[in-house]
Amino acid sequence: MTTAPISSSSTAQSVVSLMGSIADVGRDPTRGGYSRPVYSTAELDLRSWFVEAAQRRGLDVETDRNGIVWAWWDVPDHERADAVVTGSHVDSVPGGGAYDGPLGVASSLAAVDILRERRFTPSRPIAVAVFPEEEGSRFGIACLGSRLFTGAISPEKALNLKDGDGTTFADVLRGNGQDPEAVGVDRAGLDRIGIFLELHVEQGRGLVDLGAPVGVASSILGHGRWRISVSGQGNHAGTTLMTDRRDPMVAAARAVVAVRDIAVLHDSARATVGRLQPVPGGTNVIASRVDFWLDVRHPDDAVTAAVVEQIYAAARAVAAEEGCSVTLTEESLSTTVHFDTTIASGLAAATGGSPLLPTGAGHDAGVLSSHVPTGMLFVRNPTGISHSPEELCEDEDARAGAAALADALAVHAGWASPAAGSAHGVDGHGVFRTR
Ligand code: GLV
Ligand code: MN
Ligand code: MN
Repeated sequence: MTTAPISSSSTAQSVVSLMGSIADVGRDPTRGGYSRPVYSTAELDLRSWFVEAAQRRGLDVETDRNGIVWAWWDVPDHERADAVVTGSHVDSVPGGGAYDGPLGVASSLAAVDILRERRFTPSRPIAVAVFPEEEGSRFGIACLGSRLFTGAISPEKALNLKDGDGTTFADVLRGNGQDPEAVGVDRAGLDRIGIFLELHVEQGRGLVDLGAPVGVASSILGHGRWRISVSGQGNHAGTTLMTDRRDPMVAAARAVVAVRDIAVLHDSARATVGRLQPVPGGTNVIASRVDFWLDVRHPDDAVTAAVVEQIYAAARAVAAEEGCSVTLTEESLSTTVHFDTTIASGLAAATGGSPLLPTGAGHDAGVLSSHVPTGMLFVRNPTGISHSPEELCEDEDARAGAAALADALAVHAGWASPAAGSAHGVDGHGVFRTR
């Protein structure tokens, strides 16, 4: 990690140099891209980077009992209430892109710089929050930090989650100085939030098609995760005749094909198997069990449920044909989120007429939206690819995003009429916002 030089006259740093300063953290030498699971060295390094960058800006940093890091721009004689909160996450999927999460965090810090350079004085506190385990890539449940914070998951369920090494979330928390007994719904924390605005790199090609650098989220597709376990007879690869086998790998393979075949029958459905684990997993071993994880998404939650039911029925049928049995366990479910239309249209207006667009990706903003007023900004991703090293954000678009976020924060934190030269002009870094 490199600390980009900051001019002595100002702490301002552009989103591009902030992103550049973490470009070496958590690179994945095998796949390329980044692997930054929650509470890994890489993710902890990024938290430290955030804390240091926030403190350098004079923000007051605290980590709450759910492991969410908050950096406060306090307002004199104003308690930490009704705050305008922004932020995102720094954990990643395995072999993910550079921008999913960190762009929102870096843009939040850059937005603070932009507002300061505009001599903006907030009338409500502004905070930047970093949420742990947004991806669920270590403990299986996406947005674990915001789910705990809002009470969308019970502490008991969360603490018993295990990572790939069998270590519980409770033990990982303990090892990182967090008290497992203290996690759970934080009503006082929620009460401090007046509005939550998350900026995120777009994870599809909506903004590319619209020809816009910045957009406003209208909705998040309902989505869930299920574990399917296929059990058969573990045996010897050499001595077991093909006709004598009860091979769960064959049943799982047929079930995976059924996942695709069922999903394509439902308009707008997406169904994915991205993780499959044979037990015990040996080249010369017929597996005794194969676990695989199903991710299903659809705008209509009833259709999501129907797709999962049909997949389960198909898996049962192929498993029976292969002499195996199958179980299905729901691990998480998030219903479709429709963001508050007043907030969304206000964000569009505050950012110079940004277009509204839906997303198929999940976000902490989606979890928070059931509890506090919430909105989201997206920044164009020219490849349209995400959860992959090919995810991209051009520097000019990243700067446009940070400036748009600054505009949105200014409107909500009390600067209803941004001064000339700010909302649609040149910001402190000589950057002209393009929308
Ligand atoms: C996270 O990006 C997800 O949509 O799963
Ligand atoms: Mn994300
Ligand atoms: Mn993601």
